[in-house]
Amino acid sequence: MSENELPTGIQIMEIDPEFRADPYPRLAELQGRCPVRHDPVLESVVLTGYEDVRATVNDRTLWRNPARGNPRALFNRMTDANADAPQSILFMDDPDHARVRGPLTQAFYRRAAKMKPQVEAVVDEVLDGLAGRESFDVIADYGVPVPILVIAAVLGIPKERLRDFREWSEGIIQSLNALRTPEQEAELVAAATALDAFFAEAMAERRKAPRDDLITDMVQLQAEGAALTDLEVSVNLQSLLVGGNLTTTDLIGNGVIAFLRNPAELAKLRADPKLIAAAVEEILRYDPPISMTGRVASRDLEIGGEAVGEKDILLNQLRAANRDPSVYENPDRFDITRKHVPHMAFGGGAHICIGAPLARMEGQAALLKLFTRFPDLKLAEQDLAYRPLPGFRGVEHLLVEP
Ligand code: HEM
Repeated sequence: MSENELPTGIQIMEIDPEFRADPYPRLAELQGRCPVRHDPVLESVVLTGYEDVRATVNDRTLWRNPARGNPRALFNRMTDANADAPQSILFMDDPDHARVRGPLTQAFYRRAAKMKPQVEAVVDEVLDGLAGRESFDVIADYGVPVPILVIAAVLGIPKERLRDFREWSEGIIQSLNALRTPEQEAELVAAATALDAFFAEAMAERRKAPRDDLITDMVQLQAEGAALTDLEVSVNLQSLLVGGNLTTTDLIGNGVIAFLRNPAELAKLRADPKLIAAAVEEILRYDPPISMTGRVASRDLEIGGEAVGEKDILLNQLRAANRDPSVYENPDRFDITRKHVPHMAFGGGAHICIGAPLARMEGQAALLKLFTRFPDLKLAEQDLAYRPLPGFRGVEHLLVEP
C-alpha cells in the first residue's frame, strides 16, 4: 500500500461513521506506517506516536492559536478562524495566555481542592433521582447533570438559575462543533449571549457583596491588580463549561462502557475500591474523551526525523499516543492495574487541561458510587452510537439496567 492509501482527511475524523465507531485501527495503521504524516487533505501534520505527541504538546515555543497557522488547513477553512479574535485561553498564545491563565488557574485550583464533599453530594443527589428506575441513560441521566451541577457549585450559580444554566451549558458546547447546523449556531449564540449577560451581572453583584465562589475569586483578583478585562473573565469562565462539561460526561460514559465490557476489571475494582484512582487514569488512557489537540509550528522544525514547515498545523492524536505499543504493553487491553505511564488525555505544556483535578475527582466519585449503588448494573440491548462531533469521543446514549 502506498502512502496515498493511508487513512486521510475525514477518514480520521468523527464525522466518518466507521472511524467514530472504532477509531483505533486507522490510528494504529498511521502510527505503524507513518507516525508523522503530512496529510494532503487536512493540509496539516498528523502525529500519532507517543514520544512525538508528548514532546509537541509540551513544547512551549509552539503556538496554539490555529489562525496563526496555514490558512489552507482544513480546520482553518472549516472554522473561518480569525487570528485577532481569541479571548478564551483554549486558543490563546503568550503573552495573553499566561496573563489570563495565571489568575484563572490560581483561583480555580484553590477552589477545586475544596470541592470533594460537594462533588460527592452532587453525585449522590443525581443517583438518588435514579432510584427505582428499570433502566436509565448513563449519558442524559447521569453523565450530563453531574459536571454541570459541579461547575455550577464552583461558580456559585444560585438554585433558581440552575435550569437556565444547564440549558446554556449545553448550548455553549456547540462552539466546539466546527460543523454546526444553523439551528445549532442559533443555540450557541443564544447561550453565549445569555451567559455574557449572566456573568456581567454576577460580577457586578459579587463586587458589592462577595460570596464564597469562583466568580468572587476572579473579581477579587482583578481588584488586587490581575490584568483581566471583565469580558476576559466572562469568556474564560465560559471556557470552563466548554472545556469541562462534555469531556467529563464522556469520561463517565466511556468508563461505564469499559467496565461493563470487561467484568474482570470491574471485579478488581469491587474487591479493592482504592483502585478507583488508577482505574480513572486507565479509562483516560484507553478511551479518552478528547481525541486530539493542536499546535502550530512557530518555525521550521523536525519531528521524528521529518521536516515540518513554519505555520504547519500539528494535530496531536492523543488517542493514538495512548495506545502506542512501544510505550504500553497490550495497549488495546483495558487493565486498571497496568504499570502507570502518563497518558496524554489532558494534553500538556502551557495548555494542559486546567480542569484535570476536578475531572478526576468527578470521574472517581461518579464511577465508584454508580457501581456501588447498582451492584448488578448491565448494558441494555442497544446499538451504541458515537457522537459525530469532531475531536470528541463519547456515545449519544448509554442505556443500562440496574
Ligand atoms: C475528562 C475530562 C477532561 C478531559 C479529557 C480534558 C481534556 C483537555 C485537553 C486535551 C485539553 C487541551 C490541552 C492541550 O492542548 O495540551 C484541555 C484544555 C482545557 N480544559 Fe480540559 N479536559 C477535561 C475536563 C475539564 C474540566 C472539568 C474543565 C473545567 C472545569 C476543563 C477546562 C479546560 C480548559 C479551560 C482548557 C484550556 C486550557 C488552556 O488552553 O490553557 N477541562 N482539556
